[in-house]
Amino acid sequence: MASLVVIDYGSQYTRLITRRLRELQVFSVIETPDVTPARLRELDARGVVLSGGPQSVYGERAPQLPEGLLDAGLPILAICYGMHLLARALGGEVAPSPVREYGKAVLTSYGGALFDGVEGEFVAWMSHGDSVERPPRGFAVTASTSDTPVAAMEDLARHWYGLQFHPEVRHTPKGLSLLDRFVDATGVPRDWTAAHIVDAAVADVRTRVGYERVLLGISGGVDSTTLGLLLHRALGDRLVPVFVDTGMLRLGEGDEVERALRGLGVELVRVDAQERFLGALAGVVDPEAKRKAIGRAFIQVFAEEARRLQADGGRIRFLAQGTLYPDVIESAGGHGAANIKSHHNVGGLPDDLDFELIEPFRTLFKDEVREVAEALGLAPHLRDRHPFPGPGLAIRVLGEVTPERLTVLQRVDDIFISALREFDLYQDTWQALAVLTPLRSVGVMGDGRTYAHTVALRAVTSVDGMTADWARLPHEFLATVSSRIVNAVPEVNRVVYDITSKPPGTIEWE
Ligand code: XMP
Repeated sequence: MASLVVIDYGSQYTRLITRRLRELQVFSVIETPDVTPARLRELDARGVVLSGGPQSVYGERAPQLPEGLLDAGLPILAICYGMHLLARALGGEVAPSPVREYGKAVLTSYGGALFDGVEGEFVAWMSHGDSVERPPRGFAVTASTSDTPVAAMEDLARHWYGLQFHPEVRHTPKGLSLLDRFVDATGVPRDWTAAHIVDAAVADVRTRVGYERVLLGISGGVDSTTLGLLLHRALGDRLVPVFVDTGMLRLGEGDEVERALRGLGVELVRVDAQERFLGALAGVVDPEAKRKAIGRAFIQVFAEEARRLQADGGRIRFLAQGTLYPDVIESAGGHGAANIKSHHNVGGLPDDLDFELIEPFRTLFKDEVREVAEALGLAPHLRDRHPFPGPGLAIRVLGEVTPERLTVLQRVDDIFISALREFDLYQDTWQALAVLTPLRSVGVMGDGRTYAHTVALRAVTSVDGMTADWARLPHEFLATVSSRIVNAVPEVNRVVYDITSKPPGTIEWE
């Protein structure tokens, strides 16, 4: 599949470049600066973007241009550090700026291929120490700021472009248009649409799997549910989907996911393992110990089921997993996706279960999985769900998880989340949750004194969950939710709202 390749020089925005290109319906991947010409051919690269980076080109271990890049005949968009590298390699001059620019700058553009349609003044996001003092031969200066005479340059003949600022961030409001023009210049096909992703993944899975069978663990979350739909489309009943109900899902969520999948033709095997999980959690209070207990119980239940299914229906050769592109980049240690090999077995499964792994979502971001879910017919309220942790509500019942306490939390959570949907606030928050605290306090209800639980509500805004801010939910809304909770759930007599950002807080309480 034709692609644009983003070379990662360590900018915090590298992923964002890839995502923006994908918004323009271009398949784009991240590679490291040591990417080889052969790898670029393998990726069918039609153009290369050099990201920014924290280094100076004069630094001791400054990363270099990929070998052979300048002879590859490919269009290049070089951003910030990338621009400095390109300028130097071609005989231009790069110097430390007298003024270190950081933040918004007003740019004047003089036209050119990239600035076509956005000539004149506009705001751009700068962050750099060095800058190009004299562009290399063949390059025209296409934009400046008051502190940076060469804020953009281009060599139209070779389709090589340099930008001192970041077109990928929202703080450069016209940046997407610049990326769009670069895409035009490369001629790469704009076919990265949900329908295309589905078709390509289906074809891929069929080739890889042949007439073998594939086992899939479904957790109830968006990713594994969507993967179930995709694999069902590719393989029909050669997909063996196993839904392990841990009992730690939201009120009614397990049934709902099962109904939705069956409605779309996926006949899943449901394992009701609530008792097993509650047993594994009995007496466990420490958050990490809870996670481990659940992880172990999951592996045990899943392994038993896998053995049973193989004893009944013959060998299952493959195991599918919903690994996403951000996991792939991360497990490569933040150095791009270049060196990752797909492993052959899943961490933790016993040796007798020797599956080959398939990961059809390895190239997708989370929002792309949601688009795939839409293309495959998953109902909107199931595909737009907030992220939900693997251990589920167990890490939101502080202290020991008992069936009674879990039920209390499920009811509170359901009231909160349903109200967010009812008041059209669900999509304004990145994640929302309720926490059952071990705290009891005194209250009055009717004529009587109560001594009951405190629950905490938390809703955050975020881009990727790494940092987050507490959501400024309207007071009226919070008042409504609070009174609904204390009226409907007798075990609760106090509701608090968490106003901590991350950092210093985390999103979950455990
Ligand atoms: P924190 O609490 O670390 O959460 O700010 C960031 C995101 O990760 C989710 N989370 C988990 N997901 N297993 C998961 O699959 C876990 O053990 C886990 N702990 C936290 C959390 O819900 C949030 O989206």
